[in-house]
Amino acid sequence: MITVNNVSLQYGGRKLFEDVNIKFTPGNCYGLIGANGAGKSTFLKILAGEIEPQKGDVQLSPGERLAVLKQNHFEYEEYEVLETVIMGHSRLYQIMQEKDALYMKADFTEEDGMKAAELEGEFAELNGWEAESDAAILLNGLGIPEEYHHKKMAELTGSEKVKVLLAQALFGKPDVLLLDEPTNHLDLKAIQWLEEFLINFENTVIVVSHDRHFLNNVCTHIADLDFGKIELYVGNYDFWYESSQLAQKMMQEANKKKEEKIKELQAFIARFSANASKSRQATSRKKLLEKITLDDIKPSSRRYPYVAFTPDREIGNDCLMVEGLTKTIDGVKVLDNVSFYMNKTDKIALVGSNEVANTTLLRILMGEIEPDSGTYRWGVTTSQSYFPKDNSEYFDGSDLDLVEWLRQYSPVDQSESFLRGFLGRMLFSGEEVKKKVSVLSGGEKVRCMLSKMMLSGANVLLLDEPTNHLDLESIQALNNGLINFKGAMIFTSHDHQFVQTIANRIIDIQQDGTIIDKQTTYDEYLEMKYQLKK
Ligand SMILES: Nc1ncnc2c1ncn2[C@@H]1O[C@H](COP(=O)(O)OP(=O)(O)OP(=O)(O)O)[C@@H](O)[C@H]1O
Ligand SMILES: [Mg+2]
Repeated sequence: MITVNNVSLQYGGRKLFEDVNIKFTPGNCYGLIGANGAGKSTFLKILAGEIEPQKGDVQLSPGERLAVLKQNHFEYEEYEVLETVIMGHSRLYQIMQEKDALYMKADFTEEDGMKAAELEGEFAELNGWEAESDAAILLNGLGIPEEYHHKKMAELTGSEKVKVLLAQALFGKPDVLLLDEPTNHLDLKAIQWLEEFLINFENTVIVVSHDRHFLNNVCTHIADLDFGKIELYVGNYDFWYESSQLAQKMMQEANKKKEEKIKELQAFIARFSANASKSRQATSRKKLLEKITLDDIKPSSRRYPYVAFTPDREIGNDCLMVEGLTKTIDGVKVLDNVSFYMNKTDKIALVGSNEVANTTLLRILMGEIEPDSGTYRWGVTTSQSYFPKDNSEYFDGSDLDLVEWLRQYSPVDQSESFLRGFLGRMLFSGEEVKKKVSVLSGGEKVRCMLSKMMLSGANVLLLDEPTNHLDLESIQALNNGLINFKGAMIFTSHDHQFVQTIANRIIDIQQDGTIIDKQTTYDEYLEMKYQLKK
């Protein structure tokens, strides 16, 4: 169990937390939700002891072990994969190291013998003999096969590293498990495996995510961070969402009878709890749900940024010609003789499951990497703006504040008032525009990257997973902005609805690097694929 007492923290003038009191208890999976920049990652760091709150404290029950999903993907480059996983249990790893050192000694004394016996005892207690096989099971489950287990971390791709770090956090059944956006870099299969793992996990889990499908599948509770407080709700994400919407509606229609509304809510709860069979505690949850009253549910303070991309000029007749692009990465042919012609009204979604292939195609088109063979040619009237999957190079180590950062990308108007106005529409207001870009949250960085693209006036947009990190309101705003965009675009996203509502053409890069190319919507494409399989 982990207990939070009176925790307060503020940055500049902004209060992230004010007197937060909360207990996270075993057997539950808490989904920590909140707008981009609300303080979720900061809160997990406080729980993990990485940041001291200005007031209050956090207590872990005595003898309990806490594990965190590491955010730095390059922390273990020199270590082997299996070893990295075991390092998740630091005491066990330490014993293994000490044991090895003792047995390596040439002059093994009686004292060493006693020490070794002691270590062996503790090693056995911690299930040390099963450590390697346990670690291997986790890795296999996440899709990292045996032949990788003794490779160095440095040899792995980005998404493979994420899986190993996830296995590290899960290793050895920690008492409290903290996961910050674990699904962001995972493929569908690994996400499903993680869902199953978390549903069966008996200890305490606190997970930050913007993925409502994932939250619905794994959470027993929702912890909503809003107004500097964290409110706990029993139930999954949809239940929290529907009821908070309902609460908002009720406040707006104050003239309607409250009692009528309470009935409506109760009926809703009853309906919901009848469907809550997936939960391991369906019955206890039902009881709790029955006790919920109107006053327990508050409307949220979440806001929508304003996203609109306006091209400086229209695309002429030529947009993009791609001919015979071929590229091999790490010995795998990810693109094989790819050819297509992009029209000026095309909104192309790259939907293949090989993310490396999708990213490679976009990077080639942006001139960031060279193809092994083949050519591409942008029309003379086109201008491109690119949203890379990894934006760290734009922010890491930067000493600029938000206004200065954005000024770099504002060719026309460099004035502070213009930039402030622009940032305001992207939900950065007041003193906030004076903070350093290096401290921004994941979603805030994405909002900055989108601002940069909006200022570019480009008539072709290339976007690689722009929905990662964004909260639901921002995804919606971006979704609308791209539906209304009058230029051409080519993009990837894990968000089904996003792809369905924007794309009018689908390019599916196959495992062998060839493409299927259809002028259709995503759902029609999936239906077509399904019919073909039958
Ligand atoms: N050292 C700092 N100085 C000033 N502001 C900071 C500092 N560190 C973080 N912040 C701000 O605190 C807020 C909370 O950041 P945090 O990363 O916890 O957000 P988050 O809820 O995880 O958001 P996201 O959903 O985008 O990941 C952000 O507005 C961020 O810019
Ligand atoms: Mg975060």
